[in-house]
Amino acid sequence: MTKKVVKKKITEKDEEEKPKKMPSALQSIRGMRDILPMDQVYWNQVRQKAGELADTYGYERIDTPMIEDTNLFVRGVGKATDIIEKELYTFETKGGEQVSLRPEGTASIVRAYIQHGMLNLPQPQKLWYLGPMFRYDRPQSGRYRQFYQVGYECIGDDDPVIDAQLIIVGWNFLRELGIEAEVKINSLGTVDSRANYREALIAYFRTKRAKLSDDDKKRLLKNPLRLLDSKDPAIQELKAEAPQIADWLDEDSKNRFMRVLEYLDEVGVPYQFDPYLVRGLDYYERTVFEFYAPDEDETSQNALGGGGRYDALIPMLGGREETPGAGMSLGLDRIVSKLKEQDRKDDQPRTHELKSCDVFLAQLGERGRKRAMSLFEEFRKEGVPIAEAFSKGNIKAQMEIANRRNAKWAIVIGQKEVLDGTALIRDMDAGTQEIIDVKKIISSVKKKLASLTEQEPPKGETES
Ligand code: HAM
Repeated sequence: MTKKVVKKKITEKDEEEKPKKMPSALQSIRGMRDILPMDQVYWNQVRQKAGELADTYGYERIDTPMIEDTNLFVRGVGKATDIIEKELYTFETKGGEQVSLRPEGTASIVRAYIQHGMLNLPQPQKLWYLGPMFRYDRPQSGRYRQFYQVGYECIGDDDPVIDAQLIIVGWNFLRELGIEAEVKINSLGTVDSRANYREALIAYFRTKRAKLSDDDKKRLLKNPLRLLDSKDPAIQELKAEAPQIADWLDEDSKNRFMRVLEYLDEVGVPYQFDPYLVRGLDYYERTVFEFYAPDEDETSQNALGGGGRYDALIPMLGGREETPGAGMSLGLDRIVSKLKEQDRKDDQPRTHELKSCDVFLAQLGERGRKRAMSLFEEFRKEGVPIAEAFSKGNIKAQMEIANRRNAKWAIVIGQKEVLDGTALIRDMDAGTQEIIDVKKIISSVKKKLASLTEQEPPKGETES
């Protein structure tokens, strides 16, 4: 006898009762991270220092798009660099344009300088920026695929004092945040003087070809200076015997370099001459430099910042011939991590707290909440800072928040106050309360706040 299989029709109700598969929680993508509120205290300090130094040294803020025509970076940074060959986030848009996420800021600033005819403004144009950059590199400690830079670019002046001042800005930036730094410096000469050096370098490394990795053999063919940048230990060893660019510098580059060093000596910024410092971007000429934390091992992924002169870049991107430029940028992720490290060493982790606010506006019941909401907007229009927790109905929960914000007074508006046209002001320390005509609440709060500033000792007076 065959068994009759009765297929049950699945109803909508059955579907509802079926256990639902929970969607898995998504994570940020590799090499990208969140900067959480608890870390913003460090980031704010760094951002503030960036703006403060920009003002002191006469740099004006500029913001450029994070996505640009890929050609800008290929032409600017150099085709045969790691940044372009391996690390560029590049894609085609729906409209068929070839675009890339910016791997650095200088090329975009130069593009903006040319595009907006800044050449016709007083020279030099001193521009600064702060924002995320993107490089598809192998993530590791201190190396991210989205990272932040502050940069200072000075376009339209070739005086070596500009090079020195950029180093001074970076040095001050780090020192004033309490970060010890070392400056490494070198001169790459001009494109012409470098061509001779390039030949000497090729000749030297050809004799060592057997010791080179496949990648380095390619570098030798395409861009031999990049070999000096190689992280391969074999190259580090070979480098010690390699010809030095200093021996190939033209007279003018030599003199300019000496002047940069003299200005640094004058201001007391110590530096180390590094004959093999070439930097990972192709646009540099003459002065190049990098900032390091002294205890770090000396590979470029630990650099806190770097920069140099790029006199050939502006014409290369379509600008007027002989428009010089120089700049520097600092890696903020690495700087923030240094600040955190120092706090840990001093056993003084910075606590993250909600911003203090002297006045808190509490409400009870739906009518109280509505009245409090409009009152909050009136306070704001009057420029009186005030805190609230409108989503909380419970007065205890609201008072806890008032305490967390260090409020000195809490205004309470409930059903009764709405009907009477009053508000209750509670002194949070004394625990006393007074009832005030709601129309006078803003002026009354203003008086209380003014009395706070009157109580503060005049500036310069110290407690004995
Ligand atoms: P850069 O040396 O490529 O120079 O980058 C400057 C700094 O950005 C580095 O010293 C480092 O602190 C930080 N940095 C670079 N890559 C990463 C990464 N993957 N993760 C975390 N931090 C990173 C430039 O970008 C040039 N535009 C500097 C310049 C400005 N030259 C002239 N003007």
